[in-house]
Amino acid sequence: MVLQLEDVSLKRDGKWILQNINWQVHPRENWVLLGLNGSGKTAILNLLNAFYFPTKGNVTVLGMEFGKTYLGEKLRKQIGFVSSSLQEKIHAGDNAFEVVLSGAFASIGLYEQPTNEIRDKAIGLLEELGCLKYANQNYETLSQGEKQRVLIARALMADPSLLILDEPTNGLDFIAREKLLDSIENIARHPDSPTMIYVTHHVDEILPVFNKTLLLKAGQVFASGDTKKMLADDQLTQFFEQPVHVYWQNGRPILTRMQEEFGKI
Ligand SMILES: Nc1ncnc2c1ncn2[C@@H]1O[C@H](COP(=O)(O)OP(=O)(O)OP(=O)(O)O)[C@@H](O)[C@H]1O
Ligand SMILES: [Mg+2]
Repeated sequence: MVLQLEDVSLKRDGKWILQNINWQVHPRENWVLLGLNGSGKTAILNLLNAFYFPTKGNVTVLGMEFGKTYLGEKLRKQIGFVSSSLQEKIHAGDNAFEVVLSGAFASIGLYEQPTNEIRDKAIGLLEELGCLKYANQNYETLSQGEKQRVLIARALMADPSLLILDEPTNGLDFIAREKLLDSIENIARHPDSPTMIYVTHHVDEILPVFNKTLLLKAGQVFASGDTKKMLADDQLTQFFEQPVHVYWQNGRPILTRMQEEFGKI
């Protein structure tokens, strides 16, 4: 089991953010987390990273059960995390190469001397993600799409068992987004690829490698299972409480509104 949430509830500042979440992720599965704004997606990711502790229930990630084992750094070294909140934390003045190198130490900023092996690995990942040409450029000056690629390379430095991508295509133009999706697909097709969890608002970004989907609604699991079943018309119509239609093109879903019948949003 890669991770298991058993009856997990989370209360923050007197408010229940997550309630009775049950979720199991097995090896060779890649999951999409889908839910409206405020449904609790980021809260779940914060639980997986041990930034939050469950108010009720059990969380086990990569064999480590919260409360039983010391987590924090040990856990985070095995989890690659890419999010726009991470982008803001990168130290001003670090170049793309240094940002990627820091991934080997699960640190923000480079405090240790990287070995030649680590440097070679960083160069390999920069190349794989198409960022070698701006390796020496100051991270702050990179475009949004370039930054996201660098963060993915950084996340892969420690050979994570779990790779979490929280809205990685935010702010990307069409071409940059498709290129990034290609890179994600390539990572997923590696024989020793990490298990991936992908959070998005855009259904059409769901690549065929994401074979499982969790639909999260108001802090609760609305449904979870095979992506094809979760993205069926009736399922999503109930989920969004609006008539919608999904059609598939090149293995990717496209979500549309049933215009005439669409209720007042
Ligand atoms: N510390 C906190 N105190 C009170 N409420 C919180 C706290 N953190 C999050 N929330 C609330 O919990 C809910 C879930 O937040 P979360 O950030 O997980 O949503 P999300 O699904 O990631 O949404 P989005 O798609 O907008 O990123 C929101 O209503 C948010 O306001
Ligand atoms: Mg969020």
